Amino acid sequence: MIERDFIPKSYSKTIKRGSFTWSSPSNIALVKYWGKKEHQIPENPSISFTLNNCKTVTKLSFSKKETNDDFSFDVFLDDEKKDDFKPKIETFFKRIVIYLPFLKDFNFRIETSNTFPHSSGIASSASGMSALALCLMSIEREFNQSISDEFFIKKASFLARLGSGSACRSLEGDLVVWGKHEEIEGSSDLFGVKYPYEVHGNFKNYQDTILLVDKGEKQVSSTVGHNLMHGHPFAQERFKQANQNLSNLISILKEGDLDTFIALVESEALTLHAMMMSSMPYFILMKPNTLEIINKIWKFRQNTDSKVCFTLDAGANVHVLYPENEAETVLKFIKNELVAYCQNGHYICDKIGFGAKQL
Ligand code: DP6
Repeated sequence: MIERDFIPKSYSKTIKRGSFTWSSPSNIALVKYWGKKEHQIPENPSISFTLNNCKTVTKLSFSKKETNDDFSFDVFLDDEKKDDFKPKIETFFKRIVIYLPFLKDFNFRIETSNTFPHSSGIASSASGMSALALCLMSIEREFNQSISDEFFIKKASFLARLGSGSACRSLEGDLVVWGKHEEIEGSSDLFGVKYPYEVHGNFKNYQDTILLVDKGEKQVSSTVGHNLMHGHPFAQERFKQANQNLSNLISILKEGDLDTFIALVESEALTLHAMMMSSMPYFILMKPNTLEIINKIWKFRQNTDSKVCFTLDAGANVHVLYPENEAETVLKFIKNELVAYCQNGHYICDKIGFGAKQL
């Protein structure tokens, strides 16, 4: 499919008002998206676990307005008006209006809440943009009821990508690929697709405990971060490596080879941070406690036969990943040895999940 396929033919139906509510999960990348071209096209393919508990719930209410010269919307987070969220949504609307021509015809009220604390430093743009994209697709489906479920989800992912790249991986479970990869059938730069191949039972209900090392605002916005890959001396090698890692992951996922999985996932996380440390300007997004946690995880693995590992976002928090059969022992280890490094002792227990839901 190409971009043009997402531009609708004119609608014959008219709609006055209504509302839709969707709940969308967050996701955590195993092979990272870091670097993009124009129009939110990724420089390399990525793959993520969809999460189960970290979610955004968004209610989108709409009523027809008199004129259609501009966008009209208000945003509320936990019932509080949030004008500082508006510029990002305005940019999103500008990017997608060609694909949803009704956007200027309505007054919108966007009411959103997260199941995780907003100030937790966990990115809410992925779950937030995907929930909003799904609500918008529900409106489009009112105009055109012949839209298939398959097209609905594809276009929602396509739109979410234009809001925030990683958001296009936050609609379906439980493993999602975004970005064209030769060996992954159906993969596309334009939207996320469910990982189409066999996944070993070792990855069933895989656990992710998020250790909140630093709950502050992101030090570097992801857009600034992605831009640092333009002209980065190691960029081309990095993009090649991500492709290779995704190739390698196909057999790792099939065979359930956890040792190789750990090496690949931890290397991806550290490479993402290495890219930021070696860009110009350069950043260190880890905190001393991030390193303390990583070292403790490595030591625990050395002393036990645990398959616990870590991954990182573009920040200081640590995602601790482990198989379901270690849920009890690793949680005990986290409580005894890692919670001390979390801000106010805060952490979030999550696991692999099954995607967005209409409420
Ligand atoms: C480090 O999706 O937040 O989490 O497209 O600019 O909104 P924008 O970036 P964003 O980048 C996320 C990058 C990452 C890695 C990943 O999720 O793959």
